[in-house]
Amino acid sequence: MSDNRSLDELRTFLKPSKGVDSQQMVKFYNTWAETYEQDHNFMKYTAPNQAVNFLFENFSGRPEEVQVLDVACGSGWVAKLMFELGFKHFVGVDGSQGMLDEAAKTGHYEDLKLALLGTEPLPTQPGVFDVVIIVGALRDGFVPVSVTRELCLAAKAGGYVCMSRNGLKTESGNKYKESLESELQLMQDEGLWSHVATKQIDKYMLDVSIDNQDVQLERYVPGTLYLYRKSLL
Ligand SMILES: C[S@@+](CC[C@H](N)C(=O)[O-])C[C@H]1O[C@@H](n2cnc3c(N)ncnc32)[C@H](O)[C@@H]1O
Repeated sequence: MSDNRSLDELRTFLKPSKGVDSQQMVKFYNTWAETYEQDHNFMKYTAPNQAVNFLFENFSGRPEEVQVLDVACGSGWVAKLMFELGFKHFVGVDGSQGMLDEAAKTGHYEDLKLALLGTEPLPTQPGVFDVVIIVGALRDGFVPVSVTRELCLAAKAGGYVCMSRNGLKTESGNKYKESLESELQLMQDEGLWSHVATKQIDKYMLDVSIDNQDVQLERYVPGTLYLYRKSLL
């Protein structure tokens, strides 16, 4: 781990029983931004790679022409991976200015916007994006389930909405899963979008909420990837 962020600090922040307040979350990411990717490599965080590959496997279109909205973009990891696959046009949104400053350094984003989702609306025009992607932020205490409607709204008719969910099996994590999956289904029942694919992943990231010994034993948090396509209205 980097000197700036010890595993203990991280464990305290991510402790399932703790409940994360949004101001604490922003403060945490602001101070973590510079070493976020280095520390996530240590934590074997595979969600960006897995989500981008999942999207790409199910996507039809010419990547270079596509407008991508990267929600909770963090340091810009997702855009870096998508850029390697030929995607060129990115707008990023995040609640942490520190993370947005890191994202700006990638040089991939045409625009970067600060917004604490759930508290503030998604700061984009409706119906503009061919791909809306959110990785690493659909979990309790981060981005609330209600924001999925805003993700759909931001997509063009026929556009893709790709989401990853951290599958930490705690009481609040299980409630979040139930609530998210019933909202996704409800939106489908309302004709807002159609389901394209869902994929379970065993190794979303190392489970750092448990003690050091278990981290050494490489216990992983699972995850789920979801892909929907906005209806042609
Ligand atoms: C685990 S990082 C994921 C970043 C990036 N998508 C990735 O996969 O590397 C979570 C990000 O979500 C952002 N975030 C969490 N809750 C948010 C909210 N309610 N509104 C906006 N950003 C939020 C954090 O600031 C942080 O940058």
